[in-house]
Amino acid sequence: MKCRMASIRAAVAMAALMVVGLASIASAQTAAEIDAAIKAAHAKFVSLQEGKNADYIPALAKVDSKIFGIAVVTVVGRVYTTGDITSEVSIQSISKVFTMARVMEEEGPDAIANNMGVDATGQAFNSIVAVEQYKGSEMNAMVNPGAITSTSMVSGATREEIWNKILATHSDFAGRTLTVNQEVFKSEAETNQRNQAIAMLMYAYGHIKAEPLRACDIYTEQCAISVNAKDLAMMAATLANGGKNPVTGKQCMNVANVPKVLAVMATAGLYDDSGKWLFTTGLPAKSGVGGGILAVSPGKFGVAVISPPLDAAGNSVKAQKAIAEVSNALGGNPYAVKPAAAKAAPTTKK
Ligand code: DON
Repeated sequence: MKCRMASIRAAVAMAALMVVGLASIASAQTAAEIDAAIKAAHAKFVSLQEGKNADYIPALAKVDSKIFGIAVVTVVGRVYTTGDITSEVSIQSISKVFTMARVMEEEGPDAIANNMGVDATGQAFNSIVAVEQYKGSEMNAMVNPGAITSTSMVSGATREEIWNKILATHSDFAGRTLTVNQEVFKSEAETNQRNQAIAMLMYAYGHIKAEPLRACDIYTEQCAISVNAKDLAMMAATLANGGKNPVTGKQCMNVANVPKVLAVMATAGLYDDSGKWLFTTGLPAKSGVGGGILAVSPGKFGVAVISPPLDAAGNSVKAQKAIAEVSNALGGNPYAVKPAAAKAAPTTKK
């Protein structure tokens, strides 16, 4: 009996060691350090007054511009939050990532690369010039023409079936059932003539195969999905963790497609400012005009900030600054590596 107890204790100790080991692979920082990093970023930027809420979608102009929440979720499912993490904003363009991921699940990543492309446009997210330049090719699924095309590629016999798949995908990544902000959906649906024109052009050039205005309407609804900072950080952490939600344990997408999703985010997640963003942080990220940004430190953590005032490119001012600050404090930049300590023995063959 004594002997059995001892071996059970040894097994428990071994399991605990493995958990600690995994946690330290996931993040070199202690819980206190991560907590301190997000609190320091919040304190540093809470009074910053730059930027302005999006107002081309009337309902967004009314959102409280003081909302400022920060969340980090590690790949072992530890959640850290500070500031306003209960207020929700519409996900907007961040949804483009998850609908693209859904299409990759159904048709493989080449379907995205071969249809709208995976290159930066160097143009605004709703540019019609970008469509015209190469007849709807040579762009990506993070800008509106590519994103509406992604939505059109989700299979389903009815609008309802397609929508349910898109909402379920977003909910799986967030680890809870998400809902739509109907006021934002209605407001954008009444004013999205430009996106309707973009959808018609992508149809004219053969990228959208059928029902372009329905695709635009479903895209508008996906942009109105309501999220808080923790939801976005969880979605980012799921990407950081090879597509497996670190809290629910659900594999939300094929692990092999995750690097493809991250590559498109790194190329175009912050539109024409994506290069500057990557230069500053090294993190694949995605912004939305609702004021959210999520960023992924692969194998380590997801981080997200909500703050509605935007800069000229349509990216939240405070979210960019706070994410950069937190990621730098946590060593999140995947390109920032230390030189190897020891030189390997020569491997030259005779
Ligand atoms: O299509 C639009 O214009 C909006 N529903 C989404 C745009 C957006 O979020 C751009 N992000 N920074």
